[in-house]
Amino acid sequence: MAASQKIFSAICFCFFLLALCTSAYEVSHDGRAITIDGARRVLISGSIHYPRSTPGMWPDLIKKAKEGGLDMIETYVFWNAHEPSRREYDFSDNLDFIRFLKTIQDEGLYAFLRIGPYICGEWNYGGLPVWLHNMPGIELRTANSVFMNEMQNFTTKIVDLVKNEKLFASQGGPIILAQIENEYGNIMTSYGDAGKAYIDWCANMAESFQIGVPWVMCQQSDAPQPMINTCNGFYCDSFTPNNPNSPKIWTENWTGWFKSWGDKDPHRTAEDVAFAVARFFQNGGTLQNYYMYHGGTNFGRTAGGPYITTSYDYDAPLDEYGNLNQPKWGHLKQLHAVLKSMEMTLTRGNVSTIDFNNSVSATIYATNESSSCFLGNANSSTDATINFQGNQYMVPAWSVTILPDCKNEGYNTAKVNTQTSVMVKTANIADKNDGATLSWSWRPEILKDTIFQRKRYVSAHQLIDQKAATNDTSDYLWYITSFFFLINSVDIKEDDPIWSHDMSLKVNGSGQIIHAYINGKYTGSEWAKYGVSNSVFEQKVQLNPGRNQIALLSVTVGLANYGPMFDMIQTGIPGPVQLVVQKGDETIIKDLSAYKWTYKVGLNGLEDKFYDLDSLQVWKWQAQQFPINRNFTWYKATFKAPLGTDPIVLDLQGMGKGFAWVNGFNIGRYWPTYIANEDGCDVEVCDYRGSYDSSKCLTNCGQATQRWYHVPRSLIKDDENTLVLFEEFGGNPSLVNFQTITIGSACGNAFESNNTLELSCNQRPISSIKFASFGTPQGTCGSFQKGSCESTNDALSILQNACVGKNTCTIEVSEETFGAVDCGGVPKRLAVEAVC
Ligand code: GAL
Repeated sequence: MAASQKIFSAICFCFFLLALCTSAYEVSHDGRAITIDGARRVLISGSIHYPRSTPGMWPDLIKKAKEGGLDMIETYVFWNAHEPSRREYDFSDNLDFIRFLKTIQDEGLYAFLRIGPYICGEWNYGGLPVWLHNMPGIELRTANSVFMNEMQNFTTKIVDLVKNEKLFASQGGPIILAQIENEYGNIMTSYGDAGKAYIDWCANMAESFQIGVPWVMCQQSDAPQPMINTCNGFYCDSFTPNNPNSPKIWTENWTGWFKSWGDKDPHRTAEDVAFAVARFFQNGGTLQNYYMYHGGTNFGRTAGGPYITTSYDYDAPLDEYGNLNQPKWGHLKQLHAVLKSMEMTLTRGNVSTIDFNNSVSATIYATNESSSCFLGNANSSTDATINFQGNQYMVPAWSVTILPDCKNEGYNTAKVNTQTSVMVKTANIADKNDGATLSWSWRPEILKDTIFQRKRYVSAHQLIDQKAATNDTSDYLWYITSFFFLINSVDIKEDDPIWSHDMSLKVNGSGQIIHAYINGKYTGSEWAKYGVSNSVFEQKVQLNPGRNQIALLSVTVGLANYGPMFDMIQTGIPGPVQLVVQKGDETIIKDLSAYKWTYKVGLNGLEDKFYDLDSLQVWKWQAQQFPINRNFTWYKATFKAPLGTDPIVLDLQGMGKGFAWVNGFNIGRYWPTYIANEDGCDVEVCDYRGSYDSSKCLTNCGQATQRWYHVPRSLIKDDENTLVLFEEFGGNPSLVNFQTITIGSACGNAFESNNTLELSCNQRPISSIKFASFGTPQGTCGSFQKGSCESTNDALSILQNACVGKNTCTIEVSEETFGAVDCGGVPKRLAVEAVC
């Protein structure tokens, strides 16, 4: 080829590539499927929320999602994070959602953008900025012009940013689906006619953007056309959209559940998630999205409430730190592969069903060329043996068998052939003293300046809702009575009927935390249990005869994010605030609610950024013996970067409640002294059969709700790093340490049926095999035992030869590998425990 020809071809190729990258593609749908550029699709999607991880984590998370068989990543857009003050925007660092979308695009995946901008999501105030609440004349999430104007402004901003970067499919970008509002149908009736008017307005506004891809409204059974109404829940197989021409979409398949302070750890089994997905596709589904695929972390003050924890792990297929949550990730990956292999028949075939009674049914998708079948057994306890198209099949209770060719079993949701990974934590050996102890300096939070009002603050003759006073810029709000002005102070003479040495202070709070100070002296704290919306603080107080000063510090732990009018739920101290005394039969009450209260938002250390590396004011931190169990105390330590690449966690055992910063980044609220309920973990083996709900399969009873806090590696510097803790209740930092999380052992418990078992210690070699048996082994990972039936060949040495010293090994689970054995019709399995 001549040089000029070569150049010409190269130029053509570049243009071709450019065209490929930027050419628009058409996303359409009908009652059957979503069609992308003419191809009918079965789509598997997963939620990964960009602010719940860091940009450093995004490529790895998205890559693992792709490897797990996902076509698409879903994210909400987080209004209150992007517009913290009206018309002041933040799209930096982990709020750079454009970069996140481009990372999805770089991996060749589609994106689903759920703009909301109300999002729920266990996110503070459901994603709505609290300043909205404080706008005159506003009512949130209803036909109110002030709200609609703000919502339109933000939504337009987001759509414009996306359009400018050409990220919609109609522009050649990855976004094939968008969402407006979120589950409004669940609460719409509380808003009366205005609710319906609002949802119509939402639909019109969304349409007016002309983004060229379909819009969905989840849980909106009356979604105005052309909005597609979609389903959220643990199961959505029996859902049908309100328009027969809409495809059946499952926007939230909850892979586990979220956690509140005081809750146990939720788990939803791999078998049950797979069962729900398989049934959805058995019953005509076209797109399903795992909520969450990676839950991540509620950094800073982003956790919703009240009382949502910092961890948002969700028992998702990728754990909080980004590790594969095995067997869930792998079991679903296999399911995706099987479903994808049937895409043609599922989206084009004629559908017929056979009912075998007792919740057992077969569904056949047949085209002229081929057919695919599902055998579903939704009975929660009875296995079924059925004769289907001349063959006999045993379908275990609560499972779906997929026959990609209507003959051979390609997958059964109850037969998990993926390893269970047991994760372990390792001490940070980079630190001189093995990471066991850090050397601390400390400084107190000085409260006196605030209490005695050295500065001027806002005041009112009433108790103000915390949101109204703070715009939610802080968890902390002081309510302080006047001291210097006689007329407004709590002035109680000895001849006052209430005067007594036995007086109590009684404060009606809104179900979160209150600390009380009388005349500058700490008198006590009260924290309400999760789920209580009213709480009463009552303590005996010693007042001085004459003038006194009462200072109450109210603390919120995440604002409500769900429910009709959740935005109106009171926060702070609604009152009354009273002095109460019992004299004989008589209760004497002095109501202080209408006294002059002065308000001060936040704490001084937060205002002065004690956590910020640039304003640490080293000389103000005391290096000598640090106090323990002292409330309102700041602690600071330096630490070395933990070696390796494994995710890092901060162990805050011993601490009370507060915030932790690593190199100035707020890794979230901590509260290890909040112990998860004692009861409800009594079931040793969690039964996947039967409908899942969040009270099933719980662990961590009686332990700290959250002891470990994720410190993304991208926050860590090679040399020295700084940890700052703000302790509110009092704690002991001596035990605080950094650890890394890695896989400790890999267990397999795979059924024979043309299956291979893959064992992997991720990037590390398998060091030994602790247990192996082929036949009818018993027990679960960590406590396997041989059963009554076992193969002739020594499974242990076969596994040792195949696996020890390797990062990954693959074993065929069959009699060919392990020798013939007759277990009297009981399905044979291989159980292995490999040590990493
Ligand atoms: C749904 C909501 C999600 C999330 C989920 C529970 O109702 O749409 O945002 O809150 O519940 O995790």
